Amino acid sequence: MRVLLGVTGGIAAYKAAELTRELVRGGVEVQVLMTGGAQSFVTPLTFQALSGRAVRTTLLDPDAEMGMGHIELARWADLILIAPASANTLARIAAGLADDLLGTVLLASEAPLWLAPAMNQAMWRNPMTQNNVRAIQALRPDCQIIEPDSGEQACGDVGPGRMPEPEELARRVLTWQRDSGVGRPENGPVRDLLGLRIVLTAGPTRERLDPVRYLSNDSSGKMGYALAAAAQQRGAQVTLVSGPVSLAPPAGVEVVPVESACDMLEAVRTVLQRVDGADWFVSAAAVADYRPQTSATQKQKKQGDAGLTLSLVQNPDILATVTSARQARLTVGFAAETENLLEHARAKRQRKGVDLIVANNVSRPDIGFNSDENEVWIVSAADETLVSRQSKTAVADKILDAALAADRLKRNIEETV
Ligand code: CTP
Repeated sequence: MRVLLGVTGGIAAYKAAELTRELVRGGVEVQVLMTGGAQSFVTPLTFQALSGRAVRTTLLDPDAEMGMGHIELARWADLILIAPASANTLARIAAGLADDLLGTVLLASEAPLWLAPAMNQAMWRNPMTQNNVRAIQALRPDCQIIEPDSGEQACGDVGPGRMPEPEELARRVLTWQRDSGVGRPENGPVRDLLGLRIVLTAGPTRERLDPVRYLSNDSSGKMGYALAAAAQQRGAQVTLVSGPVSLAPPAGVEVVPVESACDMLEAVRTVLQRVDGADWFVSAAAVADYRPQTSATQKQKKQGDAGLTLSLVQNPDILATVTSARQARLTVGFAAETENLLEHARAKRQRKGVDLIVANNVSRPDIGFNSDENEVWIVSAADETLVSRQSKTAVADKILDAALAADRLKRNIEETV
């Protein structure tokens, strides 16, 4: 996909450099176009280094026009994003001025236009600016205005006018690409989870009786590994805390191997502390509910002809611990059930305080623990969606889609794209 990134004069121009990097990382071709004002904040060389393309700055530059004329540039773009869009730029767009490169390209382009206004809060709230925004929306109803965030400003004021974080903007662009299919990469997935830190658990746990014996379950780890791989491919930074499985670590994913539930909790805690909390915590592990009260250091010998009674104690609930400590913005749990799937899933979601529960029927041999396919219900507070039987890789993408939608809702981000 080709994005023409217009950078205009404002302190948020430095964030446009990070935005360029994120878009390029997401496989987007970025052509940066800077106004004179923008060049007072960041040099064109910075954007050239990040985008790998010479930055366009002036309308009547014979050399640049020889390469790609401004009309050609207008036609080249799949999307025009102006970030930051200064108050002056909004006024110029509203008036349809074409006395500089940006104005000319905008008039000559039929590509979707997104504006990310960023300025002092008083300038943003000023009726003149608001009037210009309304005028642009009236003249170009397809234009997306990305509302500025509120907060502390470079000038010391507090209020609306901050450009959204580059990672968030890049994610929006990539999500739009995915949903619209515009300039879709021929190979490789869309990187709409860029910038997200995701911690996952997967596989079974083993609860030791002695050095050669343990209690465990049938989990193969396939669903959790598929999720980790899909999230990584979609741009997330993924750490997978994994019980013992016979699966290859997914490329680009940090894997922390553990054995027991207590080890898993410890590893999850360490990882979450290290990354200062995760954006998402996805608990796909089939954690053993109980462990032997004592674990022998030597192999235990048979005791005559008598039977053996095991004494078990309850394991800590890893998912509930992370959720109650609010160590992740969004939490996703699993409910592997053999009966009353939805009832158990709803109850589990509420009991553990998680955002989404992915429920599957592990008694069905075609979608059970060891299968390569799965059929799940995704249960949230708002709805319950059936993901019909398909490969665990495809199911993983559906789960990530649902998590992304829930996360957006949670962050109260207006669905403008
Ligand atoms: N889970 C966890 N720690 C535990 C037990 C479960 O983190 N000690 C997580 C699982 O990874 C899963 C969810 O909680 O995401 C539900 O697990 P499940 O075993 O289905 O539920 P339980 O809590 O064991 O409840 P029940 O015994 O009623 O099925």
